[in-house]
Amino acid sequence: MELMTQLRADQTLIEKALADYAAQWPSYGALKDAMSYSLLSGGKRIRPALTLAVCRLFGGREEDALPFACGLEMVHTYSLIHDDLPCMDDDDFRRGQPTNHKVYGEANAVLAGDGLLTAAFATLAKAPLPPERICRGIATLAQAAGPHGMVGGQVLDLLGEGQSLTEEEITTIEALKTGCMIEAAARLGAIAANSTPEEEAAAAAYARKLGLAFQIQDDLLDVVGSEAEFGKPIGSDAAKEKSTFVVLKGVEACQAWVNTLTEEAIACLLPFSGSDYLCGLARFLAGRTK
Ligand code: IPE
Ligand code: IPE
Ligand code: MG
Ligand code: MG
Ligand code: MG
Repeated sequence: MELMTQLRADQTLIEKALADYAAQWPSYGALKDAMSYSLLSGGKRIRPALTLAVCRLFGGREEDALPFACGLEMVHTYSLIHDDLPCMDDDDFRRGQPTNHKVYGEANAVLAGDGLLTAAFATLAKAPLPPERICRGIATLAQAAGPHGMVGGQVLDLLGEGQSLTEEEITTIEALKTGCMIEAAARLGAIAANSTPEEEAAAAAYARKLGLAFQIQDDLLDVVGSEAEFGKPIGSDAAKEKSTFVVLKGVEACQAWVNTLTEEAIACLLPFSGSDYLCGLARFLAGRTK
């Protein structure tokens, strides 16, 4: 199937499954609305699409990977709600809409994030897989999302504001805050497919390169993007004096680096037939404008 056709099919499957999960949440105050507002507000669904694609690559069934994919997207959504809070990046727009706390207030935004984070693991636990693989999936996501991964990266990201960080320090922050969740997306697909350890390692290596390229592209779009397309405020990083590669190396060097990392990601999948979609996805993301 052509790249965009497959991506749209994956996005449709994910949107429907997320809406079905959201429909089951209780309406205590604004909780369900606040959780659903951010979960169902048209993200690119790149991480869950990656989970489905890696599962297919290694011969697994989409329906086995779908709860893993949706749970991971719930954690991602929670991370965005909290990332936008006044105490963190203090951003008012995401995906072209007011951020969660702007609509529901800070307390509801914090609790919507908490709700999504918790519901995520309940969602993984429902995967139609043997208990041992469900456990591995849960452990993989917990490792990537928690203090060893995304949360750790967010702490370092905030600490780095106003500092001139080195290339090594920025690499650590970007790998932790963004790379770990993208690597987990790939690993979850491999676990759902019951892949070999070698297959999972190759998918993880692809995702680490892709994840770094993805965050550098995000940092680039924060400088050279169009607000209408990107859906988030341009210049947010500069306003917060974030230390990014764009500050350190400049726009052109970063654009070239995104392309190099993309080709390195693709090289990780060369031994596998049927990797065209994942290779195409990497190139598509390198050229994204939102
Ligand atoms: C935004 O992620 C946060 C980063 C890690 C750069 P995405 O660009 O995947 O956001 P959505 O989900 O598509 O809005
Ligand atoms: C955040 O990076 C990554 C997360 C873990 C949420 P950014 O702060 O650059 O993400 P955006 O640009 O607000 O989406
Ligand atoms: Mg941030
Ligand atoms: Mg942010
Ligand atoms: Mg950003």
